[in-house]
Amino acid sequence: MKRILVTGGNGQLARCINDVVSSVAEYEFIFANSYDLDITNKAQINTFFEQNLFDYCINCAAYTAVDKAENDYEKAFIVNALGAEYLANACKKKGVILIHISTDFVFDGKKISSYEERDAANTINVYGASKLKGEQLIQENLSQYFIIRTSWLYSEYGANFLKTMLRLGNEKEELNVVSDQIGSPTYAKNLAKVILKIIETESNNYGVYHYSDRGKTSWCGFAQAIFEEAKINIELNPIKTAAYPTPAKRPPFSVLCTAKISEVFDIEISYWKDSLKVAIKTLNKD
Ligand SMILES: NC(=O)c1ccc[n+]([C@@H]2O[C@H](COP(=O)([O-])OP(=O)(O)OC[C@H]3O[C@@H](n4cnc5c(N)ncnc54)[C@H](OP(=O)(O)O)[C@@H]3O)[C@@H](O)[C@H]2O)c1
Repeated sequence: MKRILVTGGNGQLARCINDVVSSVAEYEFIFANSYDLDITNKAQINTFFEQNLFDYCINCAAYTAVDKAENDYEKAFIVNALGAEYLANACKKKGVILIHISTDFVFDGKKISSYEERDAANTINVYGASKLKGEQLIQENLSQYFIIRTSWLYSEYGANFLKTMLRLGNEKEELNVVSDQIGSPTYAKNLAKVILKIIETESNNYGVYHYSDRGKTSWCGFAQAIFEEAKINIELNPIKTAAYPTPAKRPPFSVLCTAKISEVFDIEISYWKDSLKVAIKTLNKD
C-alpha cells in the first residue's frame, strides 16, 4: 500500500485532498498539520521521515498571506523557500516523491497569452518571490518532484474569494471589485483530484506543471458568477486595480496554460463556471 504524507494538513487544499481520497482504499494518507510537522523545523522533518515511511509527500504547507508577506519577508521565505528545501532534502534521503504546490504569482503578468511552464518567471511581490525560491531549491536538491503551479484557489474550506463574496453578498447592497486582473478561478477539489491522478499513474514524468480550471475571467467576473449562481442580488461595480491599492502588487494577467498536464496525465479540465456551480452546491449542502 502506498503511503502519502500531506503537509499543511489543516489548509484549504489539504482538506480538499482529504475529501477526495476518503473513498480511495488503496492508499494511506497521513495528514500532518503545522503543529505535528512544522516544515521550517529541519530536525522535526527528519525525525518524521525517519519514523514513517512514505512513497509521496504532497506539500500543501505554505505562507499564503500575500499582502502580509510584504512586511513579513523573512517568515514568507522561511516557510515557502527554506521549508520546501528541507522537505526536498528529506524526500531525497528517503526516496520519496515530492508533489509541491506553487503559484501563478511567479509571473509578472505582462504576457497576453497563457503562461507556459517554460516561460520565464519574474516575480512582483514577496509571496511570489518566496514561492519561486521554493521551486528553485526543490529543483536544485531533488530530481523526483512534481511542482504544480495553480491559481485563484477556492473551495468550501478556509478563507477564499468564493466564501468572502458569499459573506459580503449577504451583508452589503453594493460592492466594488477589481476588473483588470485576469486569471483562472480553480476549485481546489479539482486540483486535489489531479494530484491523486498523478499518484495513480505512478508517472516519472517529473517536472513543473500548470493546473487551473479552464477559461479565464477577472475578479469582478468571478464575483458576478458567484452572485448569479448563489442568487444574491447586489449591485456590483467593476473598478480598476489603481482604485483598490493593496500592499502586494498583483500580476494583471496570470492565466496558466494547462496543455502539458492535460496531455501527460490525460486530464479533462472543467470549465471554471461549471466547477463553481459544484462548489456552491456543495456549500449549500453543508
Ligand atoms: N489559495 C490560493 O488562491 C492559491 C493560489 C495559487 C497557489 N496556491 C498554493 O497552493 C497551496 C495550498 O494553498 P491553500 O489555499 O490550501 O493555503 P492555506 O489554506 O493557507 O493552507 C496553508 C497551510 O499551511 C500551513 N502552514 C503554514 N506554515 C507552516 C509550517 N511552517 N509548517 C507546516 N504547515 C504550515 C498552515 O497551517 P496553520 O494554519 O496552522 O499556520 C495552513 O494550514 C500553497 O502552496 C499555496 O501557495 C494557493
